[in-house]
Amino acid sequence: MSMYNEKVMDHFMNPRNAGAMEDPDAVGSYGSPVCGDMMEIQLKIENNVIIDAKFKTFGCGSAIASSSVATEMIKGKTLEEALDLTNKNFVDELGGLPGPKIHCSVLAEQAIKSAIYDYAKKNGLELEGLKDFDPDSKFDDHHDKE
Ligand code: FES
Repeated sequence: MSMYNEKVMDHFMNPRNAGAMEDPDAVGSYGSPVCGDMMEIQLKIENNVIIDAKFKTFGCGSAIASSSVATEMIKGKTLEEALDLTNKNFVDELGGLPGPKIHCSVLAEQAIKSAIYDYAKKNGLELEGLKDFDPDSKFDDHHDKE
């Protein structure tokens, strides 16, 4: 039997929002310090609301499933609402990931934060949810975030 539940397998086999868009308003990426895998997120933003999201993930099935579910969850959300989402929300939405695979979901959280950071910087926005975000911490150790 697979170590993954059906929902994870579905998002892995049929990822939502995979690929790239033309003229994104924001781009962010994150590389996992645990395994070296990478995720890039592109966003379209209108009136502070994420109207579209795409991802490219060079990583394992759990990272792809996490990106898929995360991009679904942030669409229609305001920037602050999206910043409030953590990797735990994505794991919960997937119905759980095996313990050693939790770090894969951190890629999605950090790549989304990095994209919103990019947008905030370009547009001179100060967002409460980015207060503790350090764009240079890309390769720091986040794998205790379970
Ligand atoms: Fe690298 Fe899952 S093992 S993101």
